[in-house]
Amino acid sequence: MDHFQYQNGRLSAEDVALADIAEDVGTPFYAYSTATLERHFQNFADAFDGLDATVCYSVKANSNLAVIRTLVNRGAGADVVSGGELKRALAAGVPVDKIVFSGVGKTDHELADALRAGIAQINVESEEELESLSAIAQDLGLEAKVALRVNPDVDANTHAKITTGKGENKFGIEWTRAHEVYGKATNLPGIRPVGLAVHIGSQLSEMQPFRDAYVRMRDLVAMLRADGLTVERLDLGGGLGIPYGDSAEPMPTPAEYADVVTEVLGDLGVSFTFEPGRVIVGNAGVLVTRVVYVKEGATRRFVIVDAAMNDLVRPAMYDAFHEIVPVAEPAEGAQTSPADIVGPVCETGDTFCKDRALAPLQAGDLLAIRSAGAYGASMASTYNTRPLVPEVLVNGGEYAVVRRRLEVDDLLDLERQPDWL
Ligand code: LLP
Repeated sequence: MDHFQYQNGRLSAEDVALADIAEDVGTPFYAYSTATLERHFQNFADAFDGLDATVCYSVKANSNLAVIRTLVNRGAGADVVSGGELKRALAAGVPVDKIVFSGVGKTDHELADALRAGIAQINVESEEELESLSAIAQDLGLEAKVALRVNPDVDANTHAKITTGKGENKFGIEWTRAHEVYGKATNLPGIRPVGLAVHIGSQLSEMQPFRDAYVRMRDLVAMLRADGLTVERLDLGGGLGIPYGDSAEPMPTPAEYADVVTEVLGDLGVSFTFEPGRVIVGNAGVLVTRVVYVKEGATRRFVIVDAAMNDLVRPAMYDAFHEIVPVAEPAEGAQTSPADIVGPVCETGDTFCKDRALAPLQAGDLLAIRSAGAYGASMASTYNTRPLVPEVLVNGGEYAVVRRRLEVDDLLDLERQPDWL
């Protein structure tokens, strides 16, 4: 459940009408609902009540400082994948002992920053990284708490671009080699192996791939312990899918997910880390956009809006479905007709939906692209010299601009002419 509902015919985020925000900040803009963020976080955390678990929100899904802070106030930690995200997490007040750092290509600089900050855990994805980390930790006179990220070679049955746990994917250490590498890590100076990590993909709609991966983790833990090695922690990544409004099939709930975790791994005597992103923020955000033109083509009706693929790239990049609704509630029984909703960017891929049944629309109308809280603003670019749009956080009857709109001049200011021009 989220908190974007029509109130007196006006689509609202909690108690604030989106049209009022549009009036204030212009369009396009992202709006997030605090109550939804809190509810989704709490749901997830409560599902693991019976286990020793830390929920490290995956900052990449939505890295706005105010969003992170909202979740931190509820007890969240952070999963970060770059020096930039580490800095954000620290700036948002995430306790260092609740920060984990994942990613296949952490640079020496990033590893050193993470060590100096004293974060809870670095998820190492290769032997090469393990060796670099050992050298850096020694240099700094610090000890790195390491979880080895394992690639369990499991098909997550999700979009190919966001599948991460198959043998052919770049992530993690092959599960067949993890035992050997863990043993090696134990003997490396500056390294303290604390456990294993796994993340098999995003927008997972089924439990079976999680189960398959976790059974492999269980077997690995048994093998490592049989060799006298210590395994204190399991980081089970993120990946739980959310409904985008395109299918009647219900998504698994955090409670169903927790049942699988408990059943497969609950008796291992380890502490757990989870890295949910989308399931916390996805349905807590909308992208509000204004219709610029309705163009009647020879064979199709194009609704051209002022948001584009640079603001929300998911439809263009993953053929993702997002429900799109008018901000002014359509009259009951209003006739619908098919239309393509497209942005102004000069690519055919700049299409939010095709042949969607829509109530009558005209220039100036507002639309809300739903489920845009995850991988929306955080993946935005300035392609076509379109400045990043504002992000607005709503809390009950209040709202605040938590990132201002960039101006074209902000972009131009970053650039310099070389001497020879
Ligand atoms: N942990 C790791 C190591 C990850 O790589 C990811 C996401 C997560 C946690 C969080 O996964 P989530 O719970 O959000 O599924 N841009 C794509 C999704 C990319 C996911 C990348 N990794 C999209 O818009 O669908």
